[in-house]
Amino acid sequence: MSIAITLHLLAAVIWVGGMFFAHQVLRPIAAAQLEPPLRQPLWVGVFNRFFPWVWIAFITILVTGYWMLFGVFGGMAKVGLYVHTMHGLGLLMVAIFLYVYFVPFAGLKRAVAEQAWPEGKKHIDRIRDLVGINTILGFLTIAIGAGGRFLV
Ligand code: HEM
Repeated sequence: MSIAITLHLLAAVIWVGGMFFAHQVLRPIAAAQLEPPLRQPLWVGVFNRFFPWVWIAFITILVTGYWMLFGVFGGMAKVGLYVHTMHGLGLLMVAIFLYVYFVPFAGLKRAVAEQAWPEGKKHIDRIRDLVGINTILGFLTIAIGAGGRFLV
């Protein structure tokens, strides 16, 4: 259990922390300092490097989460509302990431390859909004995961 919960937590830190940095630190600076022909390839480079970590993180969260849920706690009927809430929010976060990865991110890579900057902007705006939502869901899920057991 100690290894599973440590990996679970570290994976959440990498995923949510990375999204927070991209959305709240890198994004406003890139928008203020770089024109689309420099900004959009930068984002493709950043996501090409960050998204593989997100794949590793969410697979680790799912594997360790289900292992703890079924292997340690004895299944869905044996856990509190906070684990069910974390489970639901976790699956929603994974669904949003997979949509971002296979739709606007794929579109952004195509637009940058074709130097279609107006098209690229549409995809970046979509990614920005969805990563913003996933960052808020991530903080909420971490708060529920860490503090929920003391509430219910
Ligand atoms: C399939 C989805 C998930 C399942 C089944 C799951 C399951 C669990 C379980 C069983 C625990 C242990 C609870 C306890 O010790 O009382 C836990 C803890 C935790 N989970 Fe999740 N989880 C999931 C997704 C997530 C996600 C997406 C995040 C964050 C983004 C997250 C963050 C945490 C945190 C912060 C803890 C507390 C760790 C600690 O006490 O040190 N979980 N999770």
